[in-house]
Amino acid sequence: MAVTLRAKIAGTGSYVPERVLSNRDLEKMVETTDEWITTRTGIKERRIAHGETSADMAAKAAERALGNAGVSASEIELIVVGTVTPDMTFPSTACFVQSLLGIKAGVPAFDLSAACSGFLYALDVAEKYIISGVVKKALIIGVDRFSNIIDWTDRSTCVLFGDGAGAAVLSATRGKSGVLASNIHSDGRKWNLLYAPNPVRDTPFCKETGTDERESKEEPLPPYLAMSGNETFKVAVRTMVSSIKEALKAAKIRPEEVDLLIPHQANQRIIQATRQRLKLPEESVYMNLDKYGNTSAGSIPIALDEANREGRLKRGDVVLFVAFGGGLTWSSAAVRW
Ligand SMILES: CC(C)(COP(=O)(O)OP(=O)(O)OC[C@H]1O[C@@H](n2cnc3c(N)ncnc32)[C@H](O)[C@@H]1OP(=O)(O)O)[C@@H](O)C(=O)NCCC(=O)NCCS
Repeated sequence: MAVTLRAKIAGTGSYVPERVLSNRDLEKMVETTDEWITTRTGIKERRIAHGETSADMAAKAAERALGNAGVSASEIELIVVGTVTPDMTFPSTACFVQSLLGIKAGVPAFDLSAACSGFLYALDVAEKYIISGVVKKALIIGVDRFSNIIDWTDRSTCVLFGDGAGAAVLSATRGKSGVLASNIHSDGRKWNLLYAPNPVRDTPFCKETGTDERESKEEPLPPYLAMSGNETFKVAVRTMVSSIKEALKAAKIRPEEVDLLIPHQANQRIIQATRQRLKLPEESVYMNLDKYGNTSAGSIPIALDEANREGRLKRGDVVLFVAFGGGLTWSSAAVRW
């Protein structure tokens, strides 16, 4: 009988900028306190990109993932980058990564937009290419540079986010390790809980009515991240719990068999509420948001890379990922290490 083809995580890498922005620093910028941020979110500091772009961060994380996997750039057959803060409208961040790492011409490279769920969306898509036998090795990356889209005078959002990138090499295997189950979801009707509009540009046609339905009816939205914090919090817990249950059921794994849950690092209280609903022990949840805040698509792969390098992942372990983000989008994956 043919053994199932799986996508194995062969290596991980991450990169965060050196510039640290602490809660104390933020106290000098907006009316907030270290105590408020720490108790409401668990975040102590975050990193801010300075003189480096999303593509630069993505390429550095990817280079480390290749090194960790022992795979050379010439072996990569697919590049998928989850990001909502690309350096340009086009080309994609993935194309820049291809160029920066010298990955050969002809290899498909594209970005996908799923906000904080970007890395798990990339995992899901790349896994399909692998299990269908189309590619043997893929590079998946999550990167965001939210410092560019934050209103730094808005205390309700500016304390939450940071910049960073994480990456993984996926490799085709017929062994027991690899993605056991993965799901991705979205609900566009709730887009306005969390969004970041493009900056509005004046064109000769702006004054004409009826050229663009939305522009002619509404005032342009400010080009900053906007969020309904309380509602987002509730929907995040609900969707992450349902997504995890779906992944566990599809993988035929009981909650008590999970060795490590690596959730999207948005808020310690969201993570705790999700964990409690699933009755998972505290020590089975990985958190590093105190150091980086919410790095959007970078969040899960940065946490995965740190857990990997700290030796938290043993061969045969069941690792569960779960994310939630603007779109709305949500996603979960169960992986045997
Ligand atoms: C944003 C969030 C931390 C706010 O926490 P909260 O407990 O819901 O707080 P509230 O929004 O109810 O605000 C409580 C008060 O704190 C104030 N406040 C907001 N930000 C503040 C800050 N940085 N410092 C001090 N006070 C702040 C509010 O103005 C409000 O004051 P008021 O009661 O006088 O009106 C929380 O809702 C959250 O994490 N939501 C999810 C956000 C998220 O993770 N988004 C990304 C998903 S991928």
